[in-house]
Amino acid sequence: MNDMINVALPKGRLGEKVYSLFESAGYDCPAVMDPGRRLLFENEEAGVRYFWVKPSDVPIYVERGVADVGVAGKDVLLESRPDVYELCDLMLGKCRMAVAAKEGFVDDTSRPLRVATKFPVIAREYYASRSREIDIIKLNGSIEIAPLLGLSDVIVDIVETGKTLAENGLVPFETVVGISARLISNKVSYKFKSAAIREMEEKVRRAAEKKAEETKK
Ligand code: PRP
Repeated sequence: MNDMINVALPKGRLGEKVYSLFESAGYDCPAVMDPGRRLLFENEEAGVRYFWVKPSDVPIYVERGVADVGVAGKDVLLESRPDVYELCDLMLGKCRMAVAAKEGFVDDTSRPLRVATKFPVIAREYYASRSREIDIIKLNGSIEIAPLLGLSDVIVDIVETGKTLAENGLVPFETVVGISARLISNKVSYKFKSAAIREMEEKVRRAAEKKAEETKK
């Protein structure tokens, strides 16, 4: 059966929600949620093969065609700009990319703004659109600590509940962009496995809409 669809799922909290969406859309593969360290799962009957990968690697697998489709956060897509199709918004993993700083921060426009972030592409584009000169400090985690230690003036980072900022005495003061999980597809797969991928897209989109409706209630 050559229309087996290979799906790259983002490992972690978001991935579990994403898998349960695929499951409710008819693409179940119970072993996916088994505790353990396996990363590759298949349900031939449902025509699907899943693999767990690091969230920021999902676009790489999809762009290279190893995965036909995958699920990635809009933050990851904006940062890595993969050459893939973005099929639909799954309305999961909702959060925002924001600029935050210490309470009372005032921008000194006589010098470049020091911006600590895991998302240099997004941050650069944001400040370029505002014609503000910046000095990017690329970090890989614990971004919130940078302004506290004087490494940066501000941070550009993901804010979900706002707890991490609050507990570190930081305040969000500008939203850069809203974020949620997106279903993406490899461009060649979308052509050659067209029927199977479109069917999956439709079913998963409907399951996402249903889920979003339920959460509203
Ligand atoms: C993200 C982000 C913040 C935190 C925000 O980190 O970088 O630190 O979540 O969430 P909150 O607003 O609900 O407190 P993540 O958990 O993805 O870890 P990472 O920094 O290791 O990527």
